[in-house]
Amino acid sequence: MDEQQESGSGGSGGGTGSDPTPPAGDAYHVPVMVHEVVEAMEPASDGLVLDGTAGGGGHSHALLTRYPSLRLVAVDRDPEAMAALRLRLSPFADRVRLVQARFDDAAQEFLDRGEPLSGALLDLGISSRQIDASERGFTFRDDAPLDARMEMDSGEGLTAAEILNSWPEEELQLLFWRLAEEPRGRALARAVVARREKAPFVRAADLNEALASIYRRPVRAKEKARVYQGLRIQVNRELEALENALPTLRDALRPGGVLAVLSYHSLEDREVKNAFREWSRSCVCPPELLRCQCRGHALGSLVNRSVGRPSEAEVAANPRARSARFRVWRKAA
Ligand SMILES: C[S@@+](CC[C@H](N)C(=O)[O-])C[C@H]1O[C@@H](n2cnc3c(N)ncnc32)[C@H](O)[C@@H]1O
Repeated sequence: MDEQQESGSGGSGGGTGSDPTPPAGDAYHVPVMVHEVVEAMEPASDGLVLDGTAGGGGHSHALLTRYPSLRLVAVDRDPEAMAALRLRLSPFADRVRLVQARFDDAAQEFLDRGEPLSGALLDLGISSRQIDASERGFTFRDDAPLDARMEMDSGEGLTAAEILNSWPEEELQLLFWRLAEEPRGRALARAVVARREKAPFVRAADLNEALASIYRRPVRAKEKARVYQGLRIQVNRELEALENALPTLRDALRPGGVLAVLSYHSLEDREVKNAFREWSRSCVCPPELLRCQCRGHALGSLVNRSVGRPSEAEVAANPRARSARFRVWRKAA
């Protein structure tokens, strides 16, 4: 499980929330496992790469700097990220396209247009900037609104508060168990329902009180973080986006193209691991079949047998990197 939220946000110091221009560069977000990402993208170095979660542009910037022939499409669903990317990637304007979209939709467009990708990168989750800007409602700081929508005020989808105020108890319980891996998920769901009968959930303080009522002791930052993370994943339907995007990106890659994913939550990493393994098997028939009736060949191969992890030095410098898991798959040539 990830404690990507709140814990050691990795140097996001700028931007006060009321500041209309977001901070730039590492002050927006410190990119994770940059060296490993750049090395993994070497086979795509003279082609078109989709950075599906471009955020503050750290990975995009490193790729464009290292590979002078690489062209890049920087995608993010967050409008504020677009402003940061425009600034950060301006030295490479002739090789960069910026697109505000969900990465699964962007991937589908490339596939539909028949514009093959040499590489695709997903660095899942949220940026330090999103956590630090309290008004965005990704944080458990008491005064923050319970929002957590990456598209901000797009009017689409439920906010965290709307989920807490409207979902049936059983669904809240599932959310807290599955996405937040909260061992007291049932008690928390019950506490949420009991509390909203008196007053609706509006600010993080309201959810923090519900949490405190079931823990009956000061709730640790780590415990709050996992509940807020689960809510955020639900608000933004992040698992759905990943499930949709993986096969679409695979199909949008040119032969020999590379798909690289950094994940920070066990369910996301499992999704990526299973997909990459399945695509790398030559036969996916059930064992009881005597003769192969499936596609009969691997679609590509795992670039690393074992999952990549950040070095101790990187985690010491940027604690939020510690839950990162890096997997790379290469499409058959
Ligand atoms: C961990 S940050 C990426 C940081 C980036 N790699 C960098 O170097 O600055 C994740 C980013 O992905 C974006 N994001 C998350 N899910 C997305 C989705 N389904 N489609 C597009 N962007 C998404 C978030 O808004 C956030 O900016």
